[in-house]
Amino acid sequence: MGIAVSPQIHPQVADFIDKPRKMLINGQWVNSISGKTFPTYNPATGEVLAQVAEGDSADIDLAVKAARKAFDQGPWRKLTVSERGRLIWKLADLLEQHTEEFAYIESLDNGKALTIARAADVPLAVDLFRYMAGWATKIEGNTIPISVPYTPGAKYLAYTLREPIGVVGQIIPWNFPLLMAAWKLGPALATGCTVVLKPAEQTPLSSLRLGELITEAGFPDGVVNIVPGYGETAGAALAAHPDVDKIAFTGSTEVGKLIVHAAAGNLKKVTLELGGKSPNVVYKDADLDTAIPGAASAIFFNHGQCCCAGSRLYVEKSVFDKVVEGIAEEAKKINVGSGLDPQTEMGPLVSEEQLRRVCGYLESGFSEGAKAIVGGHRKGDKGYFVEPTVLVNTNEDMKVVREEIFGPVVTAMPFTDPEEILPRANNSEYGLAAAVWTKDISKAHRTAEILRAGTVWINCYNIFDAALPFGGYKQSGWGREMGHEVLNNYTQTKAVCTKVA
Ligand code: NAI
Ligand code: MG
Repeated sequence: MGIAVSPQIHPQVADFIDKPRKMLINGQWVNSISGKTFPTYNPATGEVLAQVAEGDSADIDLAVKAARKAFDQGPWRKLTVSERGRLIWKLADLLEQHTEEFAYIESLDNGKALTIARAADVPLAVDLFRYMAGWATKIEGNTIPISVPYTPGAKYLAYTLREPIGVVGQIIPWNFPLLMAAWKLGPALATGCTVVLKPAEQTPLSSLRLGELITEAGFPDGVVNIVPGYGETAGAALAAHPDVDKIAFTGSTEVGKLIVHAAAGNLKKVTLELGGKSPNVVYKDADLDTAIPGAASAIFFNHGQCCCAGSRLYVEKSVFDKVVEGIAEEAKKINVGSGLDPQTEMGPLVSEEQLRRVCGYLESGFSEGAKAIVGGHRKGDKGYFVEPTVLVNTNEDMKVVREEIFGPVVTAMPFTDPEEILPRANNSEYGLAAAVWTKDISKAHRTAEILRAGTVWINCYNIFDAALPFGGYKQSGWGREMGHEVLNNYTQTKAVCTKVA
């Protein structure tokens, strides 16, 4: 499709985006029933990157039927848990072998730096699949001694089974397209569920390429179905579908609430990983040489398009100027450019919509009295670039401090009383992540206890691991991703009771 096929581009990726991409239903690559396709864009140029089959409710229906059949009748449920684990491990191996290709796809479709996709997104997805492959053989119930007071003298053998929840709909966002697919698919497959995955309309390509590897790895037909399309059509149909047993969603809190409503029809189980406005607290006794670059990366990593971005920065007053100026210096050093350029550290935002949203927040901040000590504007007039931005003169009444911006914009605020800061940090409808920087370990752990967030980082930020549960307090979500905790979201417990005497 012309533009994207620059001389630098990986040849297999050029081939992959050259043809319209189909959807994966019941092991077959098919067009949408309507025959419609939609464009996905290169955010560095704003030009069309590829055409993709546009799924809607009819395609979702076919995909759910395929997933249902694969769950109820297919060979999938008859595989041993060891065989299931080996398939997931094989998928991890295949993904790892294609690291370069996936890094290019992520960079082109999402805008992120190729170097970062190669070093972080793809290896984290590989590792997640390996971690979950190991769990397939370790999902155990219990034997439970019971007394049953109304049947004196009787004896029972009682135990629990942890069974897969069934057909799972998974709706994922565009900020880490491949990694979000892995976070969702890994536990669903380890527990023996079947899946209909709907990638974000902005970034469907890596999920579709992953679908090819899923087929190549040997997963039976219908175990994973992938239907690209828009949220309001394909996504809404999946969330409301009466034959879907569970929906797992990552995205905006606003759509999360729509998902909950849509799920009410058949009371499907729901897990949600939603927005955040994470406080990042720097005490004056922190090691500023690590806290300053740490706080910069907390907000600027992935262009601030992270649900856990450290977007509310609270700095103890006596070191406020030093920290904020230090972060501004870090911001100035960031190479902003096309993701494919090896020098690039920060690419464009994902879409024109996101560019407008972030610029709208900047204007709102300025109109309420905020001041940018660095950045504050769109960068250039081609593609969706925004300057890394540090806002001061901000307070908790401002929209930019209360709402998720999802761009490279941090709001910095000083505090004087170390006790008063924690209620302020907790004063948000969100509770996804938080961080604290201090050399005082007692203070660090006391602070971690008080912060109302699903993740608290101490003297670090954005540390993720397949073994570490991740998810939100308050309106940041329901349930946890990763770790063994996520397995609870994909299994249900059956109690079996046998009279033995
Ligand atoms: P979104 O919540 O609309 O999109 C996320 C996913 O939900 C996409 O796959 C989309 O197609 C789907 N979706 C949209 N409407 C739907 C519906 N009615 N029913 C079912 N699925 C639906 O997020 P959007 O519009 O891309 O970004 C808006 C804001 O959301 C961002 O500025 C950011 O604040 C937040 N966000 C948070 C993310 C997170 O990781 N928690 C990821 C992406 C966005
Ligand atoms: Mg939306």
